[in-house]
Amino acid sequence: MFEQATTEWNLEQLYLDLSNAKEQVFPHKKTGLTSTEKLHIQGLLCGNSPTEIANLLVIKPQGLNVALSNTIYRYVEELTGHSLNSLENWREIVNWLEIAGYKTQSSTDWGEAPDITSFYGRTQELAQLQQWIAHDRSRLIALLGMGGIGKTALAVKLVEQIKDEFEIVMWRSLRDTPPLEALFKQLLQYFPNYRNSQINANMAQLLRVLRTYRCLIILDEVEVLLKEYPVGYYCDSYKGYSEFLRRVGTERHQSCVVVISREKPREFTLFESENYPVHSLLLGGLQEESSRGILKDQQLDEGKHWEKLVKLYWGNPLALKTVAAIIRDLFEGSVTQFLKQNTTLFISNEFFEILDQQFTRLSELEAATVCKLATYTHPISISELTEIVSQVKPQTDTIQIIDSLRRRSLLEKVKSSHEALFILHPIIVQYVIRFC
Ligand SMILES: Nc1ncnc2c1ncn2[C@@H]1O[C@H](COP(=O)(O)OP(=O)(O)OP(=O)(O)O)[C@@H](O)[C@H]1O
Ligand SMILES: [Mg+2]
Repeated sequence: MFEQATTEWNLEQLYLDLSNAKEQVFPHKKTGLTSTEKLHIQGLLCGNSPTEIANLLVIKPQGLNVALSNTIYRYVEELTGHSLNSLENWREIVNWLEIAGYKTQSSTDWGEAPDITSFYGRTQELAQLQQWIAHDRSRLIALLGMGGIGKTALAVKLVEQIKDEFEIVMWRSLRDTPPLEALFKQLLQYFPNYRNSQINANMAQLLRVLRTYRCLIILDEVEVLLKEYPVGYYCDSYKGYSEFLRRVGTERHQSCVVVISREKPREFTLFESENYPVHSLLLGGLQEESSRGILKDQQLDEGKHWEKLVKLYWGNPLALKTVAAIIRDLFEGSVTQFLKQNTTLFISNEFFEILDQQFTRLSELEAATVCKLATYTHPISISELTEIVSQVKPQTDTIQIIDSLRRRSLLEKVKSSHEALFILHPIIVQYVIRFC
């Protein structure tokens, strides 16, 4: 009975310390915890109320309450530095012991997270995210980038590396747009104080949990909550999420929420800054060296033209994976043959679907700007960009259009020594040329 406590709590140490506390409070009693006392504490640690424990042990609840008041409650008060008879609610026992560090197991609920078996590169990005989350204790992080760029895969690797720093880790995809209350309920069930409570899960309770415990919550596919236009704003029915993220970002607590999205939610535009614990990371393509791993996995031939392939697909892992599968199947793995045949850039159905999803969200003016931009093959400066937008529609707020395309992860910034230059991904150019 109450087996769960043995895996989640360091019972050996707890029994030892409680028996010392017992000696302090009741020096005349026999030393060491009795087996009944151990059973009672385990019952509480599993989140059971005294009445529930009494029912399970088939004893009278009143009798158990008296027993607990004369034993465990007083030992725990002594052990955790609370004054004698200060305990007001049995739930505090679990809280106090958890804060005192007797809980051993951090719990990871992977939800809909995919199992990533092969993963290459991204060491810099992982280091940056670790720095923000583990070192700087950031409260709110966004992982942004166009479809297929590897946001979810990177987040899985990140969680694998840092999960032990948190008491509770919970991954949820918002693909099916769960009501915010359902999400709160799922998280609160990990905490004994709330698990058995009848009160509805609400934001205040959850924020209390985020303050009391160190939790990591990953919300994937957040773009489904956002309006098509203006970028980063929430659909009316999901405004609660916006309020939740705003409070997570601005209030004091010890937890972290990671938001994964193709489009940048507005909280990040509003709050992120170097010295504030809210940050966003915009993912670019994989570097050539790392992309080679993907091509190798697909058993493509000698690496002669791999560099070209990676450049064509801008290091987008999904684009590379799907094109490599085609090369293996139709061209017997020969990249050379594929490049010879393929006069226009091949876009797989899987990748085409992603581009379609992203493009249907653009405003008319944004779409027209992208079509115009697709005719430029070199990186362009901000002044050229502004000029292009005003050619599409004179007297329009050009910066807003450019910013919007950036926030949709469609406009890539390329490094230059003295000014920012921008370019459309070649795959996007190809999509635009063919289908717009
Ligand atoms: N660094 C990597 N090494 C190897 N494979 C990768 C890497 N990053 C991503 N992939 C693979 O590329 C594919 C797309 O990655 P992922 O699903 O993470 O993209 P995403 O940015 O989350 O896309 P979406 O916006 O559609 O959710 C997956 O099959 C994934 O396993
Ligand atoms: Mg994803």
